[in-house]
Amino acid sequence: MSGNKLRVLALVHRHLVPPGAVEEGTDITNEPWRTEYDVVSTLGAMGHEVQVLPVHDDLGDIRRAGTDWKPHIAFNLLEGFDDIVIFDQNVVSHLELLKLPYTGCNARGLLLARDKSLSKKLLAYHRIRVPEFEVFRAGRAIRRPKRLTFPLMVKSLTEEASIGISQASVVDSDEKLKERVAFVHESIGTAAIVEQYIEGRELYVGLLGNQMLQAMPVWELFFTNMPDGAKRIATDRVKWSVKYQKKYGIDSGPAIEMTEAKAEGIQHLCKRAYRALELSGYARIDLRLDEAGNAWVLEANPNPQIARGEDFAASAEKIGLSYETVLQRIINLGLRWQPESVA
Ligand SMILES: Nc1ncnc2c1ncn2[C@@H]1O[C@H](COP(=O)(O)OP(=O)(O)O)[C@@H](O)[C@H]1O
Ligand SMILES: [Mg+2]
Repeated sequence: MSGNKLRVLALVHRHLVPPGAVEEGTDITNEPWRTEYDVVSTLGAMGHEVQVLPVHDDLGDIRRAGTDWKPHIAFNLLEGFDDIVIFDQNVVSHLELLKLPYTGCNARGLLLARDKSLSKKLLAYHRIRVPEFEVFRAGRAIRRPKRLTFPLMVKSLTEEASIGISQASVVDSDEKLKERVAFVHESIGTAAIVEQYIEGRELYVGLLGNQMLQAMPVWELFFTNMPDGAKRIATDRVKWSVKYQKKYGIDSGPAIEMTEAKAEGIQHLCKRAYRALELSGYARIDLRLDEAGNAWVLEANPNPQIARGEDFAASAEKIGLSYETVLQRIINLGLRWQPESVA
């Protein structure tokens, strides 16, 4: 740890301002501001001076906080601007123009990783295995190309956090395909991406770094008690409903039954994906491991969930990186990142 006390401007969604303190023993697992609370309170306890800036749709707030308080760095916990998720990259671009160092991914990496079609094209160029796919935009005919065979996975082209992902996202007929694509257009309001469904285990790998990358141990999402016939995928209930997780035995932890060599191969693959998408700071790569042992990259998540004890932090902990160390590393990477020197 640097030992330097820094002024850290925590940029948070206006509805996710964490309370200054919570009573000891309070369970905050289900609080929407949990990540914000964990980051802000931990940085404070580490001796940094932290100011929380709620952000909605006014860039002026960020600029003023920058000039008035002169933070060393902005800790970027925003996942959009004005509730438009794809504007996350624009906020980061703005920070770059203000010459205010920031944590997490650069604007270009956010853009490349966000688009599940563009990112797969880049990964495929680098010979990283990704599912075959097709994009369907609203108002255009929904015709399945022959190279895509059932079952297929239908999801939003740009949404995150398993929004709109349920058992019905996996379709096995043209009729169901049309229905689900229409659902994405109408209910989520974005273009749809249809991918080859990859049957297999669900893996996650956290990474930290700009040029030099460190991969965390391979993490696995376990489905120990799913009803017969249900697909083992991270639907929004699997990800977010504690009740559902209990009922169906959903849990995550270090990948089991995996040789050291296999795990290292997957970590190496994830570093290549991180570089191919020009990410920086920290990220989590989502993969599927099929029966034959092939790892397929589903997507890259720049600025992933970093609440204490959740997958990213827990996998770091496994190799001796405490939560405090992870946050400090994220800050140091942000301080060292030079947006102007990126090609
Ligand atoms: N092509 C696919 N094959 C199998 N499962 C998939 C596929 N695409 C997505 N999934 C499942 O859906 C989950 C969410 O999809 P993902 O692309 O990671 O979207 P999000 O950005 O919402 O996390 C994945 O973690 C995985 O369980
Ligand atoms: Mg995902």
